[in-house]
Amino acid sequence: MEKIKWDPSFGVNILDVDENLKKIIELINKIIDQKKSKKCDEEQLMETFADLTDFVRNYFPCEENYLTRYRYPEARQHMKEHKKFVKKINAFRRWFAEDPANLSEDVIKYLIEWITTHIREFDMKFGPFIRIQLYLEEYGPGNKAHRF
Ligand SMILES: [Fe+2]
Repeated sequence: MEKIKWDPSFGVNILDVDENLKKIIELINKIIDQKKSKKCDEEQLMETFADLTDFVRNYFPCEENYLTRYRYPEARQHMKEHKKFVKKINAFRRWFAEDPANLSEDVIKYLIEWITTHIREFDMKFGPFIRIQLYLEEYGPGNKAHRF
């Protein structure tokens, strides 16, 4: 199983968004490494999965805050996608608690597929919209600091 390599096709080009997406990818890569390890320590693997779940649950509201604050037209659909994923990883976590072996390669493949597709099809789409809003906020006519 190949690790996910960060490349420009994942770049939303909003600094804190990209930093957080990199962190999610890093955690999935850590799961891949731990699973591949001959001495796979299931407790550590569960811990990393818990870290991933916690991180995602904390990060999504920050991303959604951008979308609602700037009235991104597809915010509702985007938030639905996040909600579905959180529901899924919460269910996974309960399932792994029954037996850590349930964290199979298929599950990891699902994580890889979800995050790469979500970034490329959903996050990339709000990038330009939010960047324009951020720019206007900073330099637009409504900003008194830039009026002469
Ligand atoms: Fe997203």
